[in-house]
Amino acid sequence: MYGLVNRAVEGLVRSRFGDDAWLTICKRAKVDPGGFVAMDLYDDAITYQLVGAASETLELPAETVLEAFGEYWTIYTIEEGYGDLVAMMGGSLNEFLDNLDAMHDRIGHAMPGLVPPSFKRDSLEDGSSVLHYYSEREGLAPMVIGLVKGLAKRFETSIEIELLDASVPGHCQFMIRESA
Ligand code: HEM
Repeated sequence: MYGLVNRAVEGLVRSRFGDDAWLTICKRAKVDPGGFVAMDLYDDAITYQLVGAASETLELPAETVLEAFGEYWTIYTIEEGYGDLVAMMGGSLNEFLDNLDAMHDRIGHAMPGLVPPSFKRDSLEDGSSVLHYYSEREGLAPMVIGLVKGLAKRFETSIEIELLDASVPGHCQFMIRESA
């Protein structure tokens, strides 16, 4: 994945747990703490190693780390200069979710070699949604939960999200309901 992702893991750890925690995590993950280049491509294994080492060091389940990472990503990308793109992609949570593929498409122009996920939202009659998430990568469903929670905060919408089905490899389904 692009270094931007690993830099965001670094930003999350340093801001919440401090510089020492980051150094310990890098050591455990056998990763050089010298810094990632946002626009360089790195092996996905590095990102997974960082998440695993963060989980062990911080004594948190990997799912918790991934969910926190997803939520952090919605703030981090804006700070890193993607705010205009994000603003263009929708004025509500549902509109934004409908435009996720278009958004990653745009990002792919500047990041050749990007392997983005794909999303499809089905609207249900009661106003809730089923979000389909397709990815070549394994185990990132908790990140999607954090991402959607972060987006909901951005659009000042109260939601509940739960994983409905992950039985088909590469395809997860989430239920998203607006809550009071
Ligand atoms: C402007 C904001 C965003 C940028 C710049 C961005 C960019 C990226 C990048 C660089 C990757 C790594 C893929 C690779 O390097 O091959 C990625 C992956 C991912 N993105 Fe985005 N993204 C943004 C917003 C979002 C949002 C709002 C969602 C919400 C669902 C999302 C969902 C994901 C997921 C789940 C992955 C993990 C990869 C996978 O599932 O295969 N992204 N994105």
